[in-house]
Amino acid sequence: MVSFTLPGLLSALLLLLLPASLDHLPASQRREAEGGIGGGLHPIVLIPGVTCPDLEARLTEAYRPSTPRCGRMTGEGWFGLWTNRTWEMDPERAACFVDQMRLVYDPVLGDFRDLPGVETRVPGFGSARGFGSKDPPHPEYCLGALKSALERLGYRDGETLFGAPYDLRYAPPLPGQTSRVYSRYFRGLARLIEDASRRNNGKPAIILGHSFGGGVALEFVRNTPLPWRDRFVKHLTVAPTWSGGGYVKSLMAVASGPVGLLFVPSAPQLAMPSMWRTFETAIVNLPSPAVFGRRPLVITRHRNYSAYDIADLLVAVGSADGVRPFRERELSKMEYFEAPMVPLTYINGVGIPTAEQLIYWDDDFDRLPEVVYGDGDDTINLASMLAFEEKVGKRPGQMERLKSIKLAGFRHSALVTDVGALSIIMNEIVEANR
Ligand SMILES: *[C@@H]1O[C@H](CO)[C@@H](O)[C@H](O)[C@H]1NC(C)=O
Ligand SMILES: *[C@@H]1O[C@H](CO)[C@@H](O)[C@H](O)[C@H]1NC(C)=O
Repeated sequence: MVSFTLPGLLSALLLLLLPASLDHLPASQRREAEGGIGGGLHPIVLIPGVTCPDLEARLTEAYRPSTPRCGRMTGEGWFGLWTNRTWEMDPERAACFVDQMRLVYDPVLGDFRDLPGVETRVPGFGSARGFGSKDPPHPEYCLGALKSALERLGYRDGETLFGAPYDLRYAPPLPGQTSRVYSRYFRGLARLIEDASRRNNGKPAIILGHSFGGGVALEFVRNTPLPWRDRFVKHLTVAPTWSGGGYVKSLMAVASGPVGLLFVPSAPQLAMPSMWRTFETAIVNLPSPAVFGRRPLVITRHRNYSAYDIADLLVAVGSADGVRPFRERELSKMEYFEAPMVPLTYINGVGIPTAEQLIYWDDDFDRLPEVVYGDGDDTINLASMLAFEEKVGKRPGQMERLKSIKLAGFRHSALVTDVGALSIIMNEIVEANR
């Protein structure tokens, strides 16, 4: 395993050395990348963060709207449900959004599904333009700068550059676990990569995921047969991923809603947390005992909760419905540290105050907690990153093919917005193209 920390100073220097634009690769490096071995670039597939993919819906007669207005689109075909205009909805429509986004857990299938009468689909699959920011104050969150840098390197959407948006509400399964939504997504992604490879002289693909998309990328690879990986995956870059270890801040979202994640300002105040709690996404990245042990993560006047007490905590915060799917689907993921067994670059920010303990002294989980901070990237705890390096990165066969890069002073989202961090990601892509 190659592991190093780039100090903040060095990245600041790097920034100074770089031209003002993102067109920062030295010409020699660029020629090398473009010339490549046998000519042409390795195709690349981008899997963005959780808020970036769009979602469309259509309502059938089986839909039981919470208000008559929410039923207006019944039988009217597909419409945008989660789009870059969702944030500007009036309160009435925002209430419908919250209603129609909800998932239900089907204990017979052991799987999540859409609300009865609501059908959904993710548009834009295949294209790197098929997703974008839903957060007007942060238009750069969804790999826009990286796409531009890739285009300057010679990548072209639909030829060498691809995107794989997913349904943000569902979480990728472990191998062998049922997931209707992800079975289809993984099949589509495998086909996308096979086609991309075929059109590019048989070159295997680079897969790059950011944040939740890093987890999706990793789980995709871990779900494919080994010979397929050897044939079609040139390199996997996750910057970063939540897989396996979970992180403490995810508990805050379960308790208080997806604050700072899903930007729907006009949604009714308590509706967003209750919608979020129906998502598999909400319970897939809760802190794992394998990483956090018996440390108290949530402190209340009468009881402390460690990573072993997540099910009780779900009940306490008003998410009792989450307990069964958590036990049946997510608990086993917390102990799953299989290596993807492909060349892997694992990039994380560190040195940023990151929630390590949440104090709800008055047992009022609707209020934001007092937070005790530790090290991390403002979202993922350093402990989770180290556990990933230790448990995934040190496996024989993976160890020699893991490069772990820690960027001091970089926040979770800055990994794909900051010029210094982007130049490091681009460098990995150029390297993979050598
Ligand atoms: C919103 O998305 C549409 C369609 O995906 C796109 O054409 C438009 O440019 C986007 N607007 C903004 C502000 O990103
Ligand atoms: C909860 O944890 C805190 C900090 O570790 C400790 O001071 C406190 O005594 C614990 N409370 C209970 C009820 O165990």
